[in-house]
Amino acid sequence: MKILGIETSCDETAAAVVENGTVVHSNVIASQVDLHHKTGGVVPEVAAREHVLKITPVIEEALQQAGMTLDDIDAIAVTQGPGLLSSLVIGVTAASALSMATNKPLIPVNHIAGHIYANWLGEKADDPIEFPAMVLTVSGGHNELVYMKSHVSFKLIGETLDDAAGEAFDKVARILGLGYPGGPIISRVAMNGNKKRFDFPQAHMGKASYDFSFSGLKTAVLNVVKEEHAREGVLSEEFIADCAASFEEAACRVLSNKLLRAAEEYKVKEVHLAGGVSANRRLRAMVQEKIEQSYYYNALGKKVKLHLKPKLRFAENIAFCTDNAAMIASTAFFHYKKAPHHYVKPFPILADPNMRIYG
Ligand code: KG4
Ligand code: ZN
Repeated sequence: MKILGIETSCDETAAAVVENGTVVHSNVIASQVDLHHKTGGVVPEVAAREHVLKITPVIEEALQQAGMTLDDIDAIAVTQGPGLLSSLVIGVTAASALSMATNKPLIPVNHIAGHIYANWLGEKADDPIEFPAMVLTVSGGHNELVYMKSHVSFKLIGETLDDAAGEAFDKVARILGLGYPGGPIISRVAMNGNKKRFDFPQAHMGKASYDFSFSGLKTAVLNVVKEEHAREGVLSEEFIADCAASFEEAACRVLSNKLLRAAEEYKVKEVHLAGGVSANRRLRAMVQEKIEQSYYYNALGKKVKLHLKPKLRFAENIAFCTDNAAMIASTAFFHYKKAPHHYVKPFPILADPNMRIYG
């Protein structure tokens, strides 16, 4: 089954053709990063206008790169939410129009579920993904721990109470004067830094909690930067690198500890990283290290033995970690497979900026 996926939840206009949820025939992404660089973040109105300009050429390009026409496509998938309303509306409208014009099923997809399914793109027959799995979704807008017992079954067990991890990376990058988007720049700069120089706080949110909070960590970085400014007038390259490395270490430690504690409690076979921050090398390495050494830190900061050794997965291809439409087409396939009768007739869908993960 070949699905054309469309994604416009934030600042990437994307379209892709994916077969049976795993084989990527094309994955086209028109990034607006340069446009938002000037403002240091996404201005919704500016993003929406750009989606209007890009959506048709991006869909055409995705079909062309796949060597297909709309006749070859079996269904249209689109991100319904969460995201910026004015951005989502462009994708939903385009997908609805295509579905109506071609009389092909329209499959609405949750963006976070999409990130989770990025790990299925390129799945190999000799290395199938096994359930149950514990997924850490870490992106600019979202930060969740999701338990998956089977396909498209999502149990939300924890989420951020304030900033998402990616948002924290972006804000700290801005505090350090590193530009937008902050995640990739922080991880690059951090490679030359001393991660032990600053002992930034790690919010564990109580003994049994799987929720996250990054605002205290962000404020702690802001405070040391203000002190350094007052003392030195400028931030040296060394100070910036040490700050970035210490921040990255604190953020990744909280994320990986909670992921492994949840993996242990739910006795999962696999742990997955998903979303833009899953591109982070330190996070990937830290989770793998802990699995190898079979430990995690509990809420009291105590080293605890891990009984099971889950398999770690993340999208090797960075383009699948950040926003893309291939992940949307993949998710749609597994939804369709589970309940094809839901999608027999095209039906109207509404963009939902606050959509929750469900299952
Ligand atoms: O999933 P995504 O593309 O968009 C949302 O759904 O939000 O994630 C974007 C986020 C940004 O905050 C960006 O700074 C972060 O992912 N990011 C990273 C890295 N690459 C992207 N954060 C840390 N390390 C990276 N290498
Ligand atoms: Zn995303």
